[in-house]
Amino acid sequence: MRMMSRRFGAVTRVETTRGTRARAVRVETMRGSFGAAETSRATSGGRARGENYGGRRDAATRAARRPNASEYAAATTSKGGGGSAFERAGGLLYVRNFFEPETYERVAKECAKLRESVTAENRACARHRLGVMVPMDNFVHEACVASSVAERLGTLLLGEENDGDLVAGDVPVEFRIYPVGGSMDWHKDVALYSKPQFEIVFTVTNTSDSTTEWEDERTGMRYGGWTEPNSVIVVRADGAPHRVTAVTRGERSIVKFVLTQTLEKTDDFFDNLLTYTH
Ligand SMILES: [Fe+2]
Repeated sequence: MRMMSRRFGAVTRVETTRGTRARAVRVETMRGSFGAAETSRATSGGRARGENYGGRRDAATRAARRPNASEYAAATTSKGGGGSAFERAGGLLYVRNFFEPETYERVAKECAKLRESVTAENRACARHRLGVMVPMDNFVHEACVASSVAERLGTLLLGEENDGDLVAGDVPVEFRIYPVGGSMDWHKDVALYSKPQFEIVFTVTNTSDSTTEWEDERTGMRYGGWTEPNSVIVVRADGAPHRVTAVTRGERSIVKFVLTQTLEKTDDFFDNLLTYTH
């Protein structure tokens, strides 16, 4: 794979040529805004501005009130068609203002305490990343596995017809820190259940210059952006390839949790339990 990078102000364009097909893939990385919908909290009830993760626009985000999760999902869909918002988006969903402000503040406070417990992580594709399993009696765990979270994301991920099918996975909720040097190479998450799970990455804090990039395998287009605090990214195991670019300044902290349609496990489930050094 050959990658050429040029800078155009805030936008970095990367052209990629892969294999013998010489397919040109353009990446547009928007530092700072992530290109997602603004909220009424940010605009004081004024016009909400909509672009998606990667720069596509959708009129659904142009609401004068606080957009709900569906509207954020709509902002990531530009191709129309059937299926859930997640499917139409091409394999990655970005939702801003995920928790209510009070819940977010409490999650952030608890995560600040968890920082004392983080250790180096063993996963192959992650570099210089730190993390810790969140205890089940911690508020962060409680907030992530709440049925309201599964219900809310169910519609976006599975569509109206199947929105009651999601439950929290029986894997630990994890708190992770990307310090300077922290990154994650291109990968697909391993399926832990017989129906591949949804991996939810909630950004707690982000003072870093790191971006999350992903590929829509239908088109070969790559997209990416900076994730703001109190947002989530959702990808499906065995789904869209994605990576986290290296932090060169600042730090990003996230909570990762899993939603699933089944608790029937694959063999990989058992191989993925020991991921931190102690
Ligand atoms: Fe991943």
